Formats: sequence, C-alpha cells, structure tokens
Amino acid sequence: MVIPGLDDLLAGGLRGTRVLVRADLNVPLRNGVIGDDTRIRACRPTLRKLLRAGARVGVVSHLGRPGGVRRPELSLRPVAPRLARLLDIGVSFCEDCVGTTARAAVDALGDGQLLLLENLRFHAGEEENDRDFARALSCLADAYVNDAFGTAHRAHASTTGVVPHFSRAVAGDLLAAELRHLGVVREPERPLLAILGGAKVSSKLGVIEALASHAEVIAIGGAMAYTFLAARGEPTGKSPVEDERVDDARRVMEAVEAGGQRILVPTDHVVAQVVGEGAPSRVVESIPDGWLGVDIGPATARTYADEAAGARTVFWNGPMGVFEIESFAAGTRTVAEGVARSPGNTVVGGGDSVAAIHSLGLGSRITHLSTGGGASLEYVQGRELPGVAVLER
Ligand code: 3PG
Ligand code: MG
Repeated sequence: MVIPGLDDLLAGGLRGTRVLVRADLNVPLRNGVIGDDTRIRACRPTLRKLLRAGARVGVVSHLGRPGGVRRPELSLRPVAPRLARLLDIGVSFCEDCVGTTARAAVDALGDGQLLLLENLRFHAGEEENDRDFARALSCLADAYVNDAFGTAHRAHASTTGVVPHFSRAVAGDLLAAELRHLGVVREPERPLLAILGGAKVSSKLGVIEALASHAEVIAIGGAMAYTFLAARGEPTGKSPVEDERVDDARRVMEAVEAGGQRILVPTDHVVAQVVGEGAPSRVVESIPDGWLGVDIGPATARTYADEAAGARTVFWNGPMGVFEIESFAAGTRTVAEGVARSPGNTVVGGGDSVAAIHSLGLGSRITHLSTGGGASLEYVQGRELPGVAVLER
C-alpha cells in the first residue's frame, strides 16, 4: 500500500487551491497560556511547503476533550498568534470550523495565506465521525492533507470521514516522518528495548503484550510498575495498584519469560508518604507499609540506562516517576540520559517523556521525538491507524 504524500499534491500545482490541513495542535494550555509547543512547531514543514506553493490553507485541529460543546477555555484562538510567530506570517482565526462563517473565511484567503479554524470537538459530529459534519468540513477545501499523527488513531470526521470527499487527500510531512521513524520500531535492528512507564497498566497492557513477542527487553517504570510488583507478590505499601489488572500483569510477565525475552520491573524505589513538593522521601528495596512509590530507585534507573546502551533500537514511552516534582524526577532523568547516550535508533513518544527529554536539553540526541502518545503506542504494536489507512491507495 502506498500513502500519497505532500510531493504528490505539490506536483499538480497548488496556486489558488484551498487546502484543508488536519493538524494536531492539541497542546497543553492553561489560562490561555501555551505550555509545550512541540506540536505547533512540528507541523511547520508541511504548512511552509503549502504556503510557498501558493495554496490557501485552512488548518483544523482539536484541543482537549470539550465533548461536542463550545468551551471557551478550550478555544484554539491562543494558538493562532503562536503559529503566526513560528511561521513568521499573519494567521487569521475563524470562530467556527464549519458553516457559512468558516466558508466565508476560507474563501477570503489569498494565495499563500493561512487561517486557523476553531476547535473541531466543539461539534459532536467530529468524534462521532458524523457524515454531515464530515461533508461540511469537506466544503472548505479542494484538497486535504492529514498531518495530525497524534490523532491518527482516532476515526473521527476530520481524520477519516472527510477523506472520501476529496480526490486529492495526502499525508503531510510530519505524518510521513512519524510513520518512517516508528516503522523502525516495528521492524527493529536488534536487540530492541522498550521502556514503558506512565500511570496506568490498563492503557499499556496492549502494547506490553504486543511487544512481549517482539522486544528482547521490556523495562517497566512509573506508577504502573506497582501493579507488576503486586503480581510478583512483592509489597507495594500504599502505591497505586490496579487490583483488577494484577492477573493480567502476571500473565504478561509469564508470556514474556516463556518467549525467552526479559521483562524488567524496578528492584529499588523512591518512596514517600505523600506526593508533593518537599515531601520527605527515601530509597528502599521493599516498599514499607504506609509509603508509596514515587519514582524508580537509582539502581533500577542505572540498569535501564545500561540496557539502553546495549540496545540497537530503543522505544521509550512514559515517565518513570512523578517527574514534575524535582525530588521524584531522578529516575526519569537517568533513563532519559541513558536513552540519549544509546548508540542505537532511539524513539521517544508521549507528551511527558518528550517533555522530560526537552527539559534536559537532550532533544538533539534522540533519533525521533514523536508527537503522538496513544498513536505511537498503537502503531508500534502493529495496529493499523484509521487516519493512515484511509489515505492508502
Ligand atoms: C493526544 O494528545 O493524545 C491526541 O491529540 C489525541 O487526543 P485524544 O486522546 O483526546 O483523542
Ligand atoms: Mg490521548
């Protein structure tokens, strides 16, 4: 299967053509202030190419989960000036993404001009992949580009439903690059090390199971590690344990080991009695009653970093502890440094792990920082992404 790309679209000439770009501008936003703007930066190559070719570009995205209603605090409006600054052009904003206002705003664009439209998820039709909503979106343009890798695992109107309405529908450069780099994890140089952290076992079980037969080593950290410890019969104190997942965790560990691969769980822990800035903490090998794990311990972090040094491919998703709190961040930091030092192909996905890499200034030492969290996890476990499949010709 071939996925047509931006160059295929550009080959036909785009001067005067209205192009709808589905981007993932779902950035952290607090009181109208943008946190990490990686996702805005990441869609620039596609937008620049289109603008240089004289296209009239309408950009659509979701922000957060407003659930089909207009929620002012989830407006994309604050993103327009940031996009303008990063692209060094004027960016206008339209208060709706469909209907007569949106049509008029797109029709008012000149060649090489760009417009950002309001949050797609203010309409229930977006997530419902509603036919009429998809048709309304398609009326805005003559050609379609999907550059929203972070949302490619969602079958929504703007990522799938809209596509059949266009004779020209292609993947943007970011989407194409993500598939190329994450493809290296699907077909890795060996050994492959997967480092998986984050809060919930339930959201990671699928990927752990899929990687069980695929990765030589799986290293577990973050809050979900405590469910694995419970499955091994080790004390977990008052650490968060997903009781209903303990059996699954045990089964996955057995499957990995039966296949001759290795699954690593923390052998030491940073524990505290409460999670908070300044809370006293200590390093233990066995979690005492009344204490909870807040980070992997130093010996575990060194082990994971050493594994990264010996791997030819490393995939990392999810922090190793509560890394927003400085005294619980050492495990995530050591792992980040280990991944950066690895001579192999290194791919990091998920907002928190990518933020950790950036905060340590290690971005240039990672082969690929993915803009997708959920999407990258689904892709590396071999699943088809609806937003990609629909583009295949
Ligand atoms: C994300 O940040 O995970 C993507 O933008 C998709 O958002 P969603 O998880 O709310 O669908
Ligand atoms: Mg998500």
